[in-house]
Amino acid sequence: MNLIFATANPHKIEEVQNILGQCISLFSPADFGYTQEVPETGNSLEENALQKARTIWNALHQNCFADDTGLEVFALGGAPGVLSARYAGPHANMNANIEKLLRELAPHANRTAQFRCVMALIIDGDEFLFEGSIAGIILPEPQGVRGFGYDPLFLPHGYTHTFASMLPEEKNAISHRALALQKMQQFLHTR
Ligand code: IMP
Repeated sequence: MNLIFATANPHKIEEVQNILGQCISLFSPADFGYTQEVPETGNSLEENALQKARTIWNALHQNCFADDTGLEVFALGGAPGVLSARYAGPHANMNANIEKLLRELAPHANRTAQFRCVMALIIDGDEFLFEGSIAGIILPEPQGVRGFGYDPLFLPHGYTHTFASMLPEEKNAISHRALALQKMQQFLHTR
């Protein structure tokens, strides 16, 4: 089956193709000539994932999906959440986002957090949502050089090393995105 993954992030295309395996062939919007930025202006992960998938469906009329992910920190009322990519400002890089998170969290004893991923799938115009999450804690300083985003700070419950210290296949076996994708994959297989 062919599916367009509505993202311009090459990290994610690679990670998701590894998780989905051979049964599903993944394409980027650019593979179908769509090179504009996909808007992401919703107030929740669900709204953003649907907005991105609808943009691609409306433009290309091809089966597609989009994800939106946030790091939700309990002591910060769920922040950075839907603002994870731009926590320290609209053009902030990840170092700035990580520094801001450590600053905001410094006064709090509870460092519990979760990554939550929402996938919006559009098949022949019908919409479906899938969710995956993984809980852990935010370390006081970054550890590890792999992965991306907040990976160096995130220690999943039951593990001794951060997402950024794991091999890609280790992270892909337990991540929020993998869990949401497994649900989507099961759904596609039973259709
Ligand atoms: P997106 O919705 O997948 O683009 O994710 C939004 C932001 O959440 C990214 O810019 C990252 O900062 C963060 N993020 C998403 N997924 C991950 C992950 O697997 N590890 C670390 N950070 C992530």
